[in-house]
Amino acid sequence: MSYWQEKIKIGNLIVPRFIGGPLDGITDSPFRKLVRHYSKDELLYGEMRHVSCVANDKGAKRALDFEQMERPFNYQVSANKIEFIQQACEKIMAAKVDCLDLNIGCPAKNVIKSGCGSALMADLPRLASLLAEFRKHLSIPFTVKIRAGFKEKNALDVARLIQDCGADAIAIHPRLQTQKFNGVPDYQLAGEVKKIITIPVLLSGGIVNWATAKRAYETTGVDGFLIGRGMWSKPWKLLELQEHAAGRVFKVTEEEILACSLAHLDNMLAYYGPHGLYAFRKHLPFYLKGKLSASALRGVLVTSSSVDQVKEGLRSFFSSEVIE
Ligand SMILES: Cc1cc2nc3c(=O)[nH]c(=O)nc-3n(C[C@H](O)[C@H](O)[C@H](O)COP(=O)(O)O)c2cc1C
Repeated sequence: MSYWQEKIKIGNLIVPRFIGGPLDGITDSPFRKLVRHYSKDELLYGEMRHVSCVANDKGAKRALDFEQMERPFNYQVSANKIEFIQQACEKIMAAKVDCLDLNIGCPAKNVIKSGCGSALMADLPRLASLLAEFRKHLSIPFTVKIRAGFKEKNALDVARLIQDCGADAIAIHPRLQTQKFNGVPDYQLAGEVKKIITIPVLLSGGIVNWATAKRAYETTGVDGFLIGRGMWSKPWKLLELQEHAAGRVFKVTEEEILACSLAHLDNMLAYYGPHGLYAFRKHLPFYLKGKLSASALRGVLVTSSSVDQVKEGLRSFFSSEVIE
């Protein structure tokens, strides 16, 4: 069996190497359901929620609202103190989530200000106590998503600590907090992390197609790949990668993209209610690409308050011929 056909073992979870990564505001339940249409077994991350929100079931949508069809599901949390971790773990396990991920890579100002996210990479004693608390209360696989470091690269020390605390896998997005999502990800560092630990290492950053996936593997030797922005409005991306890895051709037709965009909108309306239309606006520009009519139509549809107008706009876009 080739490397690409082999699966990876994260605790007791056995999943394909291509994984749906976390994108706050994008990889929500409506999107994950769309991915499941193409990919049945792939692990899908959710969006980050603070453990206190999970423990108290807070938020506009209940933190643990998801459907069983989204499994295998890796629920992602942030934390800055021990409080709430036990309660959050119990609720997450009771909801039949398959895996829990602690995000210590988030670069957002409001997140690091409270000592969550990538700020934890600069506070190893606190990180160690949080990791121990999660491990103590979790009987499902436990993963941690890291960066290259906070202001300075220390991913090797952090990876060793995470492994010693009993985590089942590490995902690394090898950029510093200061780089946010820009600049070249340091694949060499990801490869070094892979060399010094024995639990699976997953790579996040810049994997958008088969060529970039292949290069990421050849440069780092990691075990799995988190696909982030490459999946935005392309819920078939994991299947596309799997097919290319098996040496097969994969193409999506215009009809399929249209059907997908309409299903996405319907999923969002079903999940968020009427607000789903406004939440769908951030996805529209990604579907409306590659044709001369795109920018004019985008301008109309991202301000429309009519579901029918948006659906009709999408239909007319995909039936127009001219490619830019
Ligand atoms: C809009 C956006 C939202 C993100 N939200 C999260 C998140 O909630 N949790 C997380 O661990 N990473 C988050 N990330 C980081 C991605 O998971 C990923 O590590 C990063 O974008 C690099 O991978 P990519 O090049 O495949 O997108 C986010 C990135 C973007 C652009």
